[in-house]
Amino acid sequence: MACRLISSRIVPSSNRLSKRFIFIFTLSLSFTYLCYSIIFCCGTIMPNQSYEETRCLHHKNVGRKKLLQKDCSFPVNTRTIGEDSLNVAVVNQGSNHRNQSKHVPLPIAHKRSIASSEHNLTVAQKFGNKKLPNALIVGVKKGGTRAVLEFIRIHPDVRALGTEPHFFDRNYDRGLNWYRGLMPRTLDSQITLEKTPSYFVTQEAPRRIASMSPNTKLIVVVRNPVTRAISDYTQTLSKKPDIPTFEDLAFQNRSQGLVDTSWNAIRIGMYILHLENWLQYFRLSQIHFVSGERLITDPAGELGRIQDFLGLKRIITDKHFYFNRTKGFPCLKKPESSSQPRCLGKSKGRTHVQIDREVIDQLRDFYRPFNIKFYEMVGQDFRWD
Ligand SMILES: *[C@@H]1O[C@H](CO)[C@@H](O)[C@H](O)[C@H]1NC(C)=O
Ligand SMILES: *[C@@H]1O[C@H](CO)[C@@H](O)[C@H](O)[C@H]1NC(C)=O
Ligand SMILES: *[C@@H]1O[C@H](CO)[C@@H](O)[C@H](O)[C@H]1NC(C)=O
Ligand SMILES: *[C@@H]1O[C@H](CO)[C@@H](O)[C@H](O)[C@H]1NC(C)=O
Repeated sequence: MACRLISSRIVPSSNRLSKRFIFIFTLSLSFTYLCYSIIFCCGTIMPNQSYEETRCLHHKNVGRKKLLQKDCSFPVNTRTIGEDSLNVAVVNQGSNHRNQSKHVPLPIAHKRSIASSEHNLTVAQKFGNKKLPNALIVGVKKGGTRAVLEFIRIHPDVRALGTEPHFFDRNYDRGLNWYRGLMPRTLDSQITLEKTPSYFVTQEAPRRIASMSPNTKLIVVVRNPVTRAISDYTQTLSKKPDIPTFEDLAFQNRSQGLVDTSWNAIRIGMYILHLENWLQYFRLSQIHFVSGERLITDPAGELGRIQDFLGLKRIITDKHFYFNRTKGFPCLKKPESSSQPRCLGKSKGRTHVQIDREVIDQLRDFYRPFNIKFYEMVGQDFRWD
């Protein structure tokens, strides 16, 4: 426009033809300037964008640890099987979505070409979406939930959150969008899974989960409640060595055989009471019970049933496990991409404190009626008595 003013002042206005020419000339000049502005403007954005991308891609080649840079616009799959200890502490921060499933699920067509390299971006990570979980491992504490999660997540159609988000008990106020943000990216065909064992004993959890989706599939890993209580106590003792003895905590009056049901370690094992709460919101067929005992003696069998329940092809079989006699626990066989076999961390399968036989018998008597009701309800005898 400025050009036009200047040019019109310089050129005499008498000639109509030249006036028109100047008008067209200045117009095209303005237009060129406009185009130039747009190109220049885009030019300042585009290099940055590709810079970020190269940076993320570059890190991928540099090393795994650096992959977790925040600059990357998509989460990068970095953990490999065997890399981390399984007894990962509970983390509630919003950054959990970077610690994700190690397994790289891919459409078959891409599998062969890409699966060899753990550094490659996977299709799911590039194009997948974060979705609310369609399945949850809701309990129970010390039942074997970590083992189930680590075993099932080697399935290519399962993507799981590695940490416990505690959304339906402690973090519900943060809202579903926050929760979704934690989830790994998945393709439509993949199941999103998380585990938080305290859900099973949280009064509000069934209602909240049902309001997220009444079709959520629930997995509960149960174990002899007496062994579970001792394991629970052993874990607490390892963190707080000053706590009273197991016997002191378990009974209100031991000579009367009066069990203290307000102690969490005892209360969690009264499975039938908690289950009744869940059955107000879910059909029994939506809940799958895993035997914590059989998970150790026959992991492939339990995993077979879990895959069936989740509607997955039975891919995880005997071939994936070996039994570590030192630990007394099944481990995942060494995956091709990893340098180590995958066993549960040090704290799993730790030796329990020695509890008086008489105390164990008292607790067994205490739990028996609850167990029997529980077997009847779920239609399965777990043989704890
Ligand atoms: C999760 O990621 C953070 C960095 O984002 C890392 O420090 C931490 O060790 C990871 N935890 C697990 C369980 O991988
Ligand atoms: C994946 O990694 C392999 C081996 O490192 C490489 O040959 C291939 O080109 C990579 N593919 C992509 C899509 O980056
Ligand atoms: C336990 O019960 C016995 C028998 O009823 C009673 O004598 C004793 O005082 C009780 N002990 C405690 C700690 O309440
Ligand atoms: C079995 O577990 C023990 C104890 O954790 C460990 O030192 C050992 O390397 C494991 N053996 C195998 C074959 O995984």
